[in-house]
Amino acid sequence: MERELTMEFARVTEAAALASARWVGLGDKMAADNAAVEAMRAVFNTIHMDGTVVIGEGEMDEAPMLYIGERVGNGESPELDVAVDPLEGTNSCAKGVAGAIAVVAIAKRGCLLHAPDMYMDKIAVGPAAAGMINLDATVLENVTNVAKALKKDVKDITVVIMDRERHAQLILDVRACGARVRLITDGDVSPAVACAIDDSGVDMMMGVGGAPEGVLAAAALRCMGGDMQGRLWPENEEDVARAKALGITDIKKLLTLDDLVSTDDVFFAATGITEGPLLKAVTYTSKGALTHTVVMRGKTGTVRFIEARHCFDKKPDYAMKGC
Ligand code: FBP
Repeated sequence: MERELTMEFARVTEAAALASARWVGLGDKMAADNAAVEAMRAVFNTIHMDGTVVIGEGEMDEAPMLYIGERVGNGESPELDVAVDPLEGTNSCAKGVAGAIAVVAIAKRGCLLHAPDMYMDKIAVGPAAAGMINLDATVLENVTNVAKALKKDVKDITVVIMDRERHAQLILDVRACGARVRLITDGDVSPAVACAIDDSGVDMMMGVGGAPEGVLAAAALRCMGGDMQGRLWPENEEDVARAKALGITDIKKLLTLDDLVSTDDVFFAATGITEGPLLKAVTYTSKGALTHTVVMRGKTGTVRFIEARHCFDKKPDYAMKGC
């Protein structure tokens, strides 16, 4: 994939963020999501690429746009796998609290895990702790090994965990190690990616969240040399069948970073909608809006943070629709 695509993918997530930002705090997560989806798809279709959505808004019969299998781009090569979450953290957006981003990952065709829409148990760290995590090890072993790799005391390690009943024991275990726990209400992609950003204040992300979100986070960690492992966490027979339908036969398999994203030829882009550990929120000015985007490329490992000023007098459609 050519480096020129970097800016194109930044425009994709900016558009989704600008569109859904209009719904921040208005209590309507469906409207916010629809706005993000529509804007993201419109910009994707201006890009020279032959993309197939492998992680998207759902199956064709349940999502009108950005559904799994939908072709995006203008149909010209390169042939790419596309993973999207136009509004990651729908509740955060509707409530106007931290944790909502627009996010995409794009890789050479066949290189992103076609993750079913179900839960995944995950552990993520940045580059300094790559190779030091193991989903099958105890919490104490993982936290201690990561602290050693980061040359920190365990008490200075911050682990982000989603504030969910299913994590009650995990939270107790991390606290018992002496590490700091940061509980979040929504959106586990940002904190997983933040593990690989030196001054983010996040060292590890652990716990069960969405499997599609796991692949998106893995794309960023692959670009930055971080590490992640996952294991599908089916809740019922339907989940197992959904995984099998996508060709996953060993549902209990420990998924390494390479299983989640099997190439360095990958891009990741995300724009903040509300504030978070990785990105600032969309903010409005007298002239338009400011967006904060991160875009990275696996081939070179370059990570760019882009602060964009959007002028609504010159681009009036950006004011409501994001593109
Ligand atoms: P939505 O954007 O679909 O609302 O999902 C956000 C999210 O918080 C993910 O970041 C996370 O992986 C998953 O939901 C956790 O699911 P649950 O809310 O069921 O615990």
